[in-house]
Amino acid sequence: MGAQVRFGVLGCSSVARRRTIPAITACPGTSLTAVASRDPGKAEVFAAEFGCAAAGYDELLARDDVDAVYVPLPTALHVPWGLRVLAAGKHLLLEKPSATSAEGTRELVRAATAQDLLLRENFTFLHHSQHRTVARLLAEGRIGELRSFSGSFCFPPLPDGDIRYVPELGGGSLLDAGVYPIRAAQLLLGDDLRVVGSVLRTDPARGVDVAGQAMLVSGEGVFADVHFGFQHAYGSRYSLWGSTGRITLDRAFTPQAGWQPVLRIDEQDHSEELTLPADHQFLGSVAAFAEAVLAGRTARHPDEQAACASMVRTVELVEDVVRAAV
Ligand SMILES: NC(=O)c1ccc[n+]([C@@H]2O[C@H](COP(=O)([O-])OP(=O)(O)OC[C@H]3O[C@@H](n4cnc5c(N)ncnc54)[C@H](OP(=O)(O)O)[C@@H]3O)[C@@H](O)[C@H]2O)c1
Repeated sequence: MGAQVRFGVLGCSSVARRRTIPAITACPGTSLTAVASRDPGKAEVFAAEFGCAAAGYDELLARDDVDAVYVPLPTALHVPWGLRVLAAGKHLLLEKPSATSAEGTRELVRAATAQDLLLRENFTFLHHSQHRTVARLLAEGRIGELRSFSGSFCFPPLPDGDIRYVPELGGGSLLDAGVYPIRAAQLLLGDDLRVVGSVLRTDPARGVDVAGQAMLVSGEGVFADVHFGFQHAYGSRYSLWGSTGRITLDRAFTPQAGWQPVLRIDEQDHSEELTLPADHQFLGSVAAFAEAVLAGRTARHPDEQAACASMVRTVELVEDVVRAAV
């Protein structure tokens, strides 16, 4: 491999076009070789827009000039196509959530480990520096002993026919949106969170959940509640409540690259807003992936194993939310 990771993209999807492919073409460590679609005409349009080759899915996986494949397919297709990417000897950058079942995610981790390839989930918010600031403030005791986390990711209804409304494609608000506050709670409270109760609202016509809330508790006894749905005004935020203060972060999960986050701290006799630097979380995710590949890191690396364990844990928690749901 040269100085750049050469990407192929499996599926001409919306998030690929709007956010990830522009990051791949902007990142010094990556280049775009080809995009694949089930529809050759669609692949041609994408290829012309981004200056790369057009291909079918199998054709893309057979190319020698592709080192890594980005998979922005509907969630239910992440495991079957992710396994094919790994079997083709390519590193895998997989859209979130990794799978519709924890066993599916484990299968991907086993395959990446056996093939000695890198596997990462494109959970881009984890690459935004604002969460490191929050973690530092917590560690410094800025809000005292942490008592609770509350996180939400909700947005208005989607167009009919969206993949998020199709059960067979892994639709539903828990898998699409609920995983964000769940993963944020894992990040800040630990992977030993467990689900103690939940509610899900299912759209009977579509057969997918369109809203829900869950209550979790960490190993240290910190409470967490998460809200998600496709039936709300847009909201993407979390807050942490401690024994002496509270931290609130708005636009926590999908800020645009130019957005300067405003982190609010409320204490008994003092409130303060910190304006944090803008950050490009898609570029951060792609650049970190490329850096790992170029450094020869694979799923066998201890840090990657830890990240994969968190990825599996997210889907286990999703399964527990479904099991507990009223
Ligand atoms: N990281 C993030 O911030 C973020 C944001 C949005 C979405 N996502 C994730 O990215 C994935 C895709 O989301 P999206 O909004 O980009 O979806 P989308 O626009 O509907 O794209 C999905 C693509 O999958 C391909 N596909 C293959 N088989 C399909 C089938 N049976 N039905 C429909 N599409 C099929 C299609 O590409 P071809 O027609 O070209 O084959 C389609 O364009 C999801 O897992 C979602 O959770 C992540």
